Amino acid sequence: MTVPRHVAIIMDGNGRWASRRGLPRSAGHKAGLKPVRLCVEECRRRGISYLTLFAFSSENWSRPVTEVGFLMSLFIETLEREIDDLARQSVEVRFIGDRSALGTPILQRIEAAEARCVPAAQLRLTIALAYGGRWDIARAARTLALDVMAGRLSIDEINESTLGQRISLGDIPDPDLFIRTGGEQRISNFLLWSLAYSELWFTERLWPEFDAGDFGAAMDAYAGRERRFGGVPAPREPAC
Ligand code: FPP
Repeated sequence: MTVPRHVAIIMDGNGRWASRRGLPRSAGHKAGLKPVRLCVEECRRRGISYLTLFAFSSENWSRPVTEVGFLMSLFIETLEREIDDLARQSVEVRFIGDRSALGTPILQRIEAAEARCVPAAQLRLTIALAYGGRWDIARAARTLALDVMAGRLSIDEINESTLGQRISLGDIPDPDLFIRTGGEQRISNFLLWSLAYSELWFTERLWPEFDAGDFGAAMDAYAGRERRFGGVPAPREPAC
C-alpha cells in the first residue's frame, strides 16, 4: 500500500462538537488534543515522516478574546506537558506562522520546544500557529526582494525553486495528503504553495471524534489515488 510521506491536517469541528453536547467551545478544543496524539502515533506506526497540523490561523485572531486566550493557554500547557514525551519518541516539533503576532509566554514555549527536539527525528511534527498561506508567500517574496536589494540574488534567479525554498515548509517534501475534518471542503488559507499537488480528503467527522478508523480510511483513499502531477497515467505493463 502506498503510504504518504507527508500528511497535512485542518482539524475542524471542535466548536460544533462541544455545542452539540451543550458544552462551551473550549471543551471542544480540549477534546481535540486526543486525536492530535492519535495522529502522531499513527504516523509513527505507519512510517509517515512529516505531519503538519493547522492549530491556529491568521484569521482565528478574530475569534472572541476569551477563546483566543483559551487556545493560547491550551497550546502552552500542552507543549509543557507533552514535549519530553515527544522528544523521547523521536518526534521533532517545529512551528510555522507569524511569530511577531504571538505573546511572550507562547513564544518562549515554542522556542524551548524546538530546542528540545532532535533534528534526526522519526517524525517531524509541524504546528501552524498564527499561520496563513498568503502571509507565508508574501513573507517568502519579501526575503527574495531583500536579497535582490542586497545584491545577493538577481531578478533572473527568482523562480519556483527559489521562492519555494523560502516558503515555511521549503525544507521538507510537499504534503502528499491533505485531510480536513468537520465537513467543509476548502483549504482556508492553509499551505497554499505546498498543497499544489496534494491529494485532498474530506470527512464530515468532527475533529474530536477523529479516530484510528478515520485515519485508516484517509490512508486507504490515498493509496487508491492516481497521482499524475499534471502528466499522463503511467503506461500499464503489456499483457503477456
Ligand atoms: C477548529 O475548530 C479548531 C481550532 C481553531 C483549534 C484547533 C486546536 C486543537 C485541536 C488543539 C491542538 C493543540 C496542539 C498543541 C496542536 P473550530 O473551533 O473552528 O470548530 P467549529 O468549526 O465547529 O466552530
